[in-house]
Amino acid sequence: MKVTVFGIGYVGLVQAAVLAEVGHDVICIDVDENKVENLKKGIIPIFEPGLTPLVMQNYEAGRLKFSTDAKEGVNHGIMQFIAVGTPPDEDGSADLKYVTAVARTIAEHMQGHKVVIDKSTVPVGTADRVRSVMSETLKGRNASVAFDVVSNPEFLKEGAAVSDCMRPERIVVGTDNEDVVDLLRELYEPFNRNHDRMILMDIRSAELTKYAANCMLATKISFMNEISNLAELLGADIEKVRQGIGSDSRIGYSFIYPGCGYGGSCFPKDVQALIRTSEQIGYTPRILQAVEAVNDDQKLKLPAFIKRHFGDDLKGKTFALWGLAFKPNTDDMREASSRVLMETLWQAGARVQAFDPEAMDEAQRIYGSRDDLQLMGTKEAALHNADALVICTEWKNFRVPDFDVVKNALKEPVIFDGRNLYDPERVSKRGFVYYAIGRGA
Ligand code: UGA
Repeated sequence: MKVTVFGIGYVGLVQAAVLAEVGHDVICIDVDENKVENLKKGIIPIFEPGLTPLVMQNYEAGRLKFSTDAKEGVNHGIMQFIAVGTPPDEDGSADLKYVTAVARTIAEHMQGHKVVIDKSTVPVGTADRVRSVMSETLKGRNASVAFDVVSNPEFLKEGAAVSDCMRPERIVVGTDNEDVVDLLRELYEPFNRNHDRMILMDIRSAELTKYAANCMLATKISFMNEISNLAELLGADIEKVRQGIGSDSRIGYSFIYPGCGYGGSCFPKDVQALIRTSEQIGYTPRILQAVEAVNDDQKLKLPAFIKRHFGDDLKGKTFALWGLAFKPNTDDMREASSRVLMETLWQAGARVQAFDPEAMDEAQRIYGSRDDLQLMGTKEAALHNADALVICTEWKNFRVPDFDVVKNALKEPVIFDGRNLYDPERVSKRGFVYYAIGRGA
């Protein structure tokens, strides 16, 4: 099947590569010439396990093409994916200017029937907006060409994007036209074998499903973070409580890990966007507001522990930081807890020596050169002469450190662990003061 994907971001590139892998003829269109030229040379703009070989193999096989030529893109596919960004507006609502620009472009060039598929995370009502932008543009051209707009949200996770896309748990399709369902079934047939994962619904429900899923997951995390604060005050261990409640199959073990706050390009943005949507229609979303507030506070947890231990004035102190990315297996630092931590430490006069297995270039790009940040080549180098160790990301190679090396390198044996990686009793026995989340430090 011929497929066009507008927007070579996370979602667009992974989706395009996976569709090409199963045999579809895919072209990706982006306005960023540099990105397009790089992709043709095998330079992938994001770090994502398994993505580079997938893109390269399919590019070389001719099933995956890259171009800046929007007209070529519109002519190519009957399926036209919109996978461009929806960054937050000043007030936190999703900015749809890129989505509507693509809709306009498709309508400017289309000669025959197209199925326009919203893949970006877009507020409820966006499909209607896309439809009206396209109708107006066609009217301006004096053209009468049929098209459909479908909502087909993506549920991939960074760090596992390729496998999530290859083996989706569900394929949500929102449409008001039964006739396009067969086309979508054909498109997704290779991912939909053995049992039917396609969940059909109306367009608005599909749009809301995407937000509801992310907001539910963010709610689980903020809920656990709140309980972890209670555990700390009540002298309980949140890790025991987590296992205790996770064993109830109605609750489950996933997404109940307490920590120093959720980050990334999705949860913070989507919770905020659904709050704005609610407010715009006169509804006060009290749970979502609390989810956001608890998360903002949770990002200040480690700085609060540090100040409790060292005092408010951190001039002359140096902190080793393990983990910059918002989670393991990505180089993404958007809304990462590490950023709030570093910025708070800097404000109090401290220096940071940071190490992350993948996000060093990203940190350099965000912060440039500054006297109070040193990016170190290894996790051991980051420890050298630091006053204490702080952990913000649960990368696998932080899990079993040589505690003697850590102790010898630090000026004081103190660990502030934002991801509960270690057994408090064991670390204490080795002579460390150990601050963790909800573990009664
Ligand atoms: C999230 C969703 O999990 C995907 O299903 C969704 O498709 C995606 O957003 C999106 O909308 O595109 P992602 O942002 O890649 O995926 O990352 P997650 O794995 O969900 O983690 C988000 C944050 O929550 C991380 O900072 C992580 O450390 C934190 N987290 C996660 C916790 O603090 N505790 C947990 O138990 C789980």
